[in-house]
Amino acid sequence: MKLPPPIALCLFLWTLLLTVCADPTDTTTNVGKQYANLPYPPRNPADEAVRLLSDVHPAYLDFYIFQRRVMTMPLDASPPPSTSTRVLIAGGGTGDVVVYLAEMCSRFIEGNYKYRCGGSAGVEFYHLDLSNASIDIAKERLRMRGLLLGVEGVTVNFLQGSLLGLEFEEGRLALGLEKDIKFDYINSVGVLHHLASPTQGLRSLNSVLKPDGGMFIMLYGAHGRTGVYDVQSAIKDMGVDTVANPKICLDIVKSLISSLPPTHRLYKTVELMSQGDNLWPEESEIYDIFCHSQDRAYTVEQVFEFISEGGQGELTMASWHQPVLYRPSTYIKLAEETKLLTQLFMGVEDEVRLFALAEKLGGSVHGKHQFFLEKKKEGGGAIYKGRDWEVTGCGTREFQDTVLCSSMEEDIKDFTKDMWGEKFSEAYKADKGLNCVMQFEGATAGHGIEVKKNFPCSVMRVLSLIDCRRSVLQIWEEVVRLEGFGDSSWWRGNGGEGGLEVIWVIAKKLFEVGYVVPLLDGGGGWGEGGEL
Ligand SMILES: C[S@@+](CC[C@H](N)C(=O)[O-])C[C@H]1O[C@@H](n2cnc3c(N)ncnc32)[C@H](O)[C@@H]1O
Repeated sequence: MKLPPPIALCLFLWTLLLTVCADPTDTTTNVGKQYANLPYPPRNPADEAVRLLSDVHPAYLDFYIFQRRVMTMPLDASPPPSTSTRVLIAGGGTGDVVVYLAEMCSRFIEGNYKYRCGGSAGVEFYHLDLSNASIDIAKERLRMRGLLLGVEGVTVNFLQGSLLGLEFEEGRLALGLEKDIKFDYINSVGVLHHLASPTQGLRSLNSVLKPDGGMFIMLYGAHGRTGVYDVQSAIKDMGVDTVANPKICLDIVKSLISSLPPTHRLYKTVELMSQGDNLWPEESEIYDIFCHSQDRAYTVEQVFEFISEGGQGELTMASWHQPVLYRPSTYIKLAEETKLLTQLFMGVEDEVRLFALAEKLGGSVHGKHQFFLEKKKEGGGAIYKGRDWEVTGCGTREFQDTVLCSSMEEDIKDFTKDMWGEKFSEAYKADKGLNCVMQFEGATAGHGIEVKKNFPCSVMRVLSLIDCRRSVLQIWEEVVRLEGFGDSSWWRGNGGEGGLEVIWVIAKKLFEVGYVVPLLDGGGGWGEGGEL
């Protein structure tokens, strides 16, 4: 049937209107429904009474993104900036990031730290998610910690809706944000790859990023998740509509998990290996990994395309979260080959090829790409800067006074609690050369990296003392006090003056794999950077 022109035009305009004015806070999509029914990640607020889950430490943000003290602002900074630091957690789910950061920032204020988060007006967190159910869990977790209503210098806001709404004026009003609000730091982990257009998602986040702000993003890695996509595709081939029949999908996956041949590459997926024997106890995790209605993964090259398109040429990668994973030399032990490769792939433009090569060599290591982004500076065209930690000379005052911070601080506390128990101490005293295998939660992303394997147990002692308050010298003094310096063959080999340098070497190794960063010393004073 042919419609008369005015009616056809009206219908056309109506459709156009619906498309253009689609409610950006829409939760009726498949993705919205999934997270409304299965909040992710599964968290029990009662657990807050016993442990704090680790995330990216505030000092990492200063080191990798700002290159000055923003999240660890010295108390005596003068003059302290009067505006507050704004942090947006886009797709924050059940609250891991907001809980961790708000807790750390409140500790900085209450504990005997010499800094706080943000300027004199403190830090404002905005936890944004499509799912009300997830937001409720995040709120409850914060309530358990006494942080829901905020504390001095820390406020927490909740926004229900789509991050796509940030880009539109109407959306901003709908999200309850003031017009033209901009953020210093945006965290979006495991979210953008679930959007119909991930680049549109990044564009939207970029539209509310301050010119000197930065982001931390996690996207799925194609190489590391091949096994997951085998299973996803098999489920599709079986004709299962995972949205219409979530239970069937869950049942199939549960059965596949125990029936696939042990050589199936699914079992090499790092993300899953970290679960150990206790494979995916929670249905929301199974569904998220295998039955999701919308997920895509990226190769290294695609990550850079994504940044360039979504960032509209304004964003650049400041650093990978674990730079060592993106160096071919990590996987090729022959010095000559490493040299050859370095020669072959030198130059800024070729850096992406170098990372891509490491990705191929690392294989299942790259299940997730985690990286820091920043706005390009005036005249800066580099696609990747990397942040290295260079300190002039060992044994200098500068080196001794460096304070170390670790994103693993909480995990290490948990781990070493048992480790330094009576039984272990006995074995350790009997054989100080004892090796420890570091396998605490979250460490799995670096499988195959030396630091993970058989380190002398004394390293664990060092790690357990890294608390963003102690300097290298203080850590060394504490090790000497606790270990009885000279008793251990390992320490003796590096004893005397060299002992301090051992701490230094360990710290550098841990830095390489992303477990440690130096607290910026603010050398140049406020406003001048404070780069090391
Ligand atoms: C896999 S979970 C990750 C949660 C959290 N970032 C974490 O890593 O613990 C994805 C989250 O993104 C949210 N989400 C998906 N699309 C979104 C959108 N367009 N706007 C805001 N949140 C979204 C979902 O509701 C869900 O809570």
